[in-house]
Amino acid sequence: MRNVEQIYINGEFIEPRGTERLDLINPATEEKIGSVRLGNAEDVAAAVKAGKKAFPELAQTSKAERVDMLLSLRDAVTANPEELIDAMTEEYGAPSYFTAFSVQNTASVFEVMAETVENYDFDRTAGRSAIRMLPRGVLAAITPWNSNFGFIATKLAHAIGSGSPLVIKPAEQSAIQTEVLVKRLHKAGLPAGVLNVVNGTGPVVGAAITSNPDVATISFTGSTQAAKIIQRAAIDGMKRVILELGGKAPTVLLPDAELDKAIPIALMSGFANSGQACVAGTRILAPRSRMAEICEKLKIETEKLRVGDPRDPEVRIGPLASQAQWERIQSYIRLGLDEGAVLLTGGEGRPEGLERGWFARPTIFTNVTNNMRVAREEIFGPVLCVLSYEDENEAVEIANDSDYGLQAYVLGIDADRATRLAERLIAGRVVVNGAPHDPRAPFGGFKQSGIGREIGAFGLDGLLEPRAVLTP
Ligand code: NAI
Ligand code: MG
Repeated sequence: MRNVEQIYINGEFIEPRGTERLDLINPATEEKIGSVRLGNAEDVAAAVKAGKKAFPELAQTSKAERVDMLLSLRDAVTANPEELIDAMTEEYGAPSYFTAFSVQNTASVFEVMAETVENYDFDRTAGRSAIRMLPRGVLAAITPWNSNFGFIATKLAHAIGSGSPLVIKPAEQSAIQTEVLVKRLHKAGLPAGVLNVVNGTGPVVGAAITSNPDVATISFTGSTQAAKIIQRAAIDGMKRVILELGGKAPTVLLPDAELDKAIPIALMSGFANSGQACVAGTRILAPRSRMAEICEKLKIETEKLRVGDPRDPEVRIGPLASQAQWERIQSYIRLGLDEGAVLLTGGEGRPEGLERGWFARPTIFTNVTNNMRVAREEIFGPVLCVLSYEDENEAVEIANDSDYGLQAYVLGIDADRATRLAERLIAGRVVVNGAPHDPRAPFGGFKQSGIGREIGAFGLDGLLEPRAVLTP
């Protein structure tokens, strides 16, 4: 049993003023593994105050000092990866391929930001004026549970890179992971007040953050629904918001796609992070002329994927993060059937042989049209839709006919043709032919997928404002 009793303010682990508690559950076993004592609005006030106090000095730091801080953070998270992996496996249930990526990525975001700072033009000229890019003030971040380490690291890297102190409210369901990570971040020896972490719920701690007048910028990752509440709350304080939200990514299988290669790639992105990924390729667009063979192959390959204990290295799909997520997925599977979609594989309930744990059956719907709710709404579990298209123009039309625009995928033998199609898609990132993760590519979406970008110079731009000095 691990009870998380402390939050982190002004460089110290302290008891929160809040007294409410939340149970922490292992989603693979449904057993209680600990609890967290939650913070409240007073804790947020103390955290923002610490950030505000740290701001003037942090804002003045040189590139070299920021790079030093970022590399110390990287080193602090690189040591003993097993400890991070174990916490993420137990509390969140991610399979080992994903925990390995996630922990490596947590270190890499600090390194990439160090490189960004080195190359960023903080001093520029415009006309006759000298421009300096200045941090806006305290950055507040609110993050979700589907990749807790990576989100905390990304928000912190941007904070340091821009010279903005950070107050962060990670997902309350991830408190053990947060504690393990923050103990390491503490070891990097940042000046007091530069990093402040308050556990708590959205309506209490999240709301106190979004209404605090000394917060200059809010960086949120999570649901489009919560983002709207946050953005409304941010208006009075004239805060800038950077929002990284949901998705309904299309995966366009071009007519020349080589299915032996393309289908496993499509399923890898569709079922990424057990389907709990904003970037998951959940709408598979298939040429009508090849529909039968594509469906056959999708079914065969999906049924090969092992679902189960996330500690088993062969497992590709772990449990959903919580009972709430499991029930949400079940209701979407029922909805798809009600809407007239046809099950190619999967369906309601747990996979055979798994009686406990929030495991869902990897599910693929065919006969889906793009007006169905299962094709339009983010499901956030291992549920994919197959839609048919006649020609490339129709593929582009369906792909772009979405409220979201975070990510898209294109698969086809002719790389030029695939890239030309990629250039017609409205998405923050388009991945061609299973290209590997690029830790330097900007990240964020169009439309309901968000506002602004993270990573690299695009990420820093959102946290900085130019000051122009005009001389005669
Ligand atoms: P959520 O968006 O409610 O939670 C994300 C974070 O926002 C958490 O830290 C939460 O405490 C906080 N939050 C919630 N309401 C808030 C408020 N009123 N003010 C300030 N902060 C608030 O996501 P939830 O409810 O856990 O998941 C529901 C669905 O949201 C998922 O099924 C999925 O579709 C989507 N989602 C998308 C994510 C992404 O990566 N884009 C991540 C998590 C959820
Ligand atoms: Mg919510």
